[in-house]
Amino acid sequence: MTATTAIGIDIGGTGIKGAVVDLATGELLTDRVKLPTPKGGRPQDIVETTRTLLSTVSKGVGDVPVGVCFPAVVKNGHTMSAANVSSKWIGLAAEALFEKGLGLPIHFVNDADAAGYAEAQFGAATGVAGVVLLTTLGTGIGSALLNDGVLVPNTELGHLQIDGHDYETRAAYSAKERDDLSWETWAARLQKYYSTLERLFSPDLFIVGGGVSKHHQNFLPLLNLKTRIIPAVHRNNAGILGAAALAARFPG
Ligand code: BGC
Repeated sequence: MTATTAIGIDIGGTGIKGAVVDLATGELLTDRVKLPTPKGGRPQDIVETTRTLLSTVSKGVGDVPVGVCFPAVVKNGHTMSAANVSSKWIGLAAEALFEKGLGLPIHFVNDADAAGYAEAQFGAATGVAGVVLLTTLGTGIGSALLNDGVLVPNTELGHLQIDGHDYETRAAYSAKERDDLSWETWAARLQKYYSTLERLFSPDLFIVGGGVSKHHQNFLPLLNLKTRIIPAVHRNNAGILGAAALAARFPG
């Protein structure tokens, strides 16, 4: 039987958050629980915090699929990169480590891919034909590439080299905060970033996620692109929703 609810957990550089998701509507059925990411971001510590979080989120929920998303390349359950987390994640059998620590099967996926999948299932990319490129602007830049709703995982387009920079260090929301940039100055960096993506992928739609997308009126109108660019529907919950939906689709 296909699950109608699932738990999604989104691991980030500052917080780990989770909730129970209604898979028909994409709504959260519980409050979102958030715990701080342990200092240093080491694998064993993160698994431990995730276990604590899961025991709260899963109270009274029964046996439902659990999905976990994480800011790294994920190949066959292994984390293969570590841009804003401890380098101990590189080459780690992360899915197996979580399954052992949590005592249940999970589905493990890149955080931006989870967000892209969520927008395709329940949000701004639902029913959109052609190439959709979702980017999340946060500590780093995450990317999810969809073609006719099908995800091409691990694109990592936040790390495009532009003008000799790993461009997430220039255009992520954290760069705006770090360099105290006005919306206009930040938008000039975004202009360079999205024009490059446009040239490379000729997308039919850009979707911009991450917490800052709730302020989209301050920067999206400043961009001059051929491609339509719109805010994500689910912003900070997209990772939770996508991880949950993917866990139901690919039960461990
Ligand atoms: C990581 C990606 C992640 C993105 C957003 C980047 O630094 O390399 O894997 O999706 O940040 O968290």
